[in-house]
Amino acid sequence: MSVKMFYFSGTGNSLLLGRRIRDQINGAELLPAVSLYGSMSKRIEADAVGFIFPVYSLDIPDFVKDIIEKNDFSCAGYFFAAVTCGGDPGNALNSIDRILRKKGKKLNYGVEVKMGDNSIVYVTQQEMLEQRLKKLEDISAEIAAKVNKRETNGQEYGFKAISAIMKHVINIALSVYFEIDRKSVIKEKCSLCGLCVKVCPVENVKLVGGNVKWGNTCKRCYACINWCPQSAIRFGRIEPAKKQQYRCQGICAADIIYKGDEGQTINNLDNDVR
Ligand SMILES: Cc1cc2nc3c(=O)[nH]c(=O)nc-3n(C[C@H](O)[C@H](O)[C@H](O)COP(=O)(O)O)c2cc1C
Repeated sequence: MSVKMFYFSGTGNSLLLGRRIRDQINGAELLPAVSLYGSMSKRIEADAVGFIFPVYSLDIPDFVKDIIEKNDFSCAGYFFAAVTCGGDPGNALNSIDRILRKKGKKLNYGVEVKMGDNSIVYVTQQEMLEQRLKKLEDISAEIAAKVNKRETNGQEYGFKAISAIMKHVINIALSVYFEIDRKSVIKEKCSLCGLCVKVCPVENVKLVGGNVKWGNTCKRCYACINWCPQSAIRFGRIEPAKKQQYRCQGICAADIIYKGDEGQTINNLDNDVR
């Protein structure tokens, strides 16, 4: 009986949750979803497959949709998902279920987990954050117990039309009002440490001739802007002060950089980067 869990995480929430769940499921592996990214479809050999992802604009990230659509999960007979969010998960579980149904499968067990919001536009209050982190132990134990028993949560992941409309409104606001695709560094603050390059999950950030440059494959995970030790990154109108940057407690930059099997030890990365 094998369980493969795929995670994607810009600031650590989904990674922390994934680790906690993995640790309580016999023989489970936690693997980076970026290992499934690309044009080649991979066949996943597992009895059960899990997805642990953040919510973006009331849905799952487009990149995650591509991954679930393109790859071959036909071996698996049980699917579960845990989506992390700052407050409103919108249609995230419905989207995963719909993609799986097109493949003749379904989402057997799905759960929405509120954690810290990393969008910078919203900042989760410290007190709330602590309460949510405290609950994580029980939540992950409950998810793992259900998965171990291959239980379903007997719930339809209903489509919410209002969330679908709001998704477009939010995306337009991010692109047109906040201009988040206009990324730059504040030269006086940037130390050219290169951490933004390393934490990018899709190698979209590069150091070129003493400048930080973004390509056009950004997945909007906000890893670069949140992990920057100098708070030197700006996405259009979004220019966070240190206290607006978000990183999940218990996860360090090296954990985000590491793209290997989560079961292996992280050896040659700087665990102190934070
Ligand atoms: C571009 C963007 C859009 C987001 N949209 C939502 C949203 O619609 N609803 C919500 O509750 N949280 C939203 N968030 C917050 C994240 O879902 C949340 O912080 C998540 O747990 C981050 O996971 P990670 O640390 O694994 O990257 C958004 C974050 C980003 C960067």
